[in-house]
Amino acid sequence: MKKLIVANWKMNPQTLKEARKLFNGISKYAKEIRNAKIVICPPFVYLGFFSKKSKISLGSQDIFWEDPPAGGGSYTGEVSAKILKNLGVEYVIIGHSERRQIGETDEIINKKIKQALKNKIKVIFCVGELERDEGGEYLQFVKDEIIKGLDKIPAKLFKNLIITYEPVWAISSNEKSDKARFNADTPENAREMAIYAKRVLVSIFGRIARNIPVLYGGSIDEKNAASFLNKEGIDGLLVGRTSWNAKTFGELLKNIS
Ligand code: PGA
Repeated sequence: MKKLIVANWKMNPQTLKEARKLFNGISKYAKEIRNAKIVICPPFVYLGFFSKKSKISLGSQDIFWEDPPAGGGSYTGEVSAKILKNLGVEYVIIGHSERRQIGETDEIINKKIKQALKNKIKVIFCVGELERDEGGEYLQFVKDEIIKGLDKIPAKLFKNLIITYEPVWAISSNEKSDKARFNADTPENAREMAIYAKRVLVSIFGRIARNIPVLYGGSIDEKNAASFLNKEGIDGLLVGRTSWNAKTFGELLKNIS
């Protein structure tokens, strides 16, 4: 199966001109890649400029949980599943720790996942502990996030579900040197967590959940990407900072192909 490489642009870049340049730059590298599917998740406002223009799939970084009622949707600032679908969006990131940090609860995440799956948008559902304690409490933490996020979601919708294990402590920071900025988990731990996440899914939802892909995210760069993807059980990567530069992301794609 093809690996899934998801670029999370977060709140970057600051101009449409730069966004176009970055997208076109990545597209050039992406043309050569056969063994991976590439998804770019830019800020909402740039989505319309990239629709259906290349073999790269589009993802959004958020979604609203309600459909607009007949007569119009009175939800200032929100973006519906239908708006996204009509722009050609196929994926959505939900449950990212940076959104949880600004108040997104498990309940909201659950409603957003339900809404996206109902509308046949593929969900990249992020889970991960804030810190890794020696006693192993983080395992229960990750399990709880999975259970709460997927509460009462019919298993028949799972074919569009993707889990991302992204330990929050491993997400890159704004430190000056690369060494301080990037702090990835080890590929071996990531592999164990991917297997753990799959076990949790199967124990709750049964065998139907065994094919749900699990990605790893957190300080992936052009140098370490292949070592994570080579691990059995890791079906792809969620890439932040390294995807904000066409050259480094292009190197990453080359190194995994
Ligand atoms: P990072 O971010 O690759 O910069 O660590 C990943 C993410 O937050 O999705």
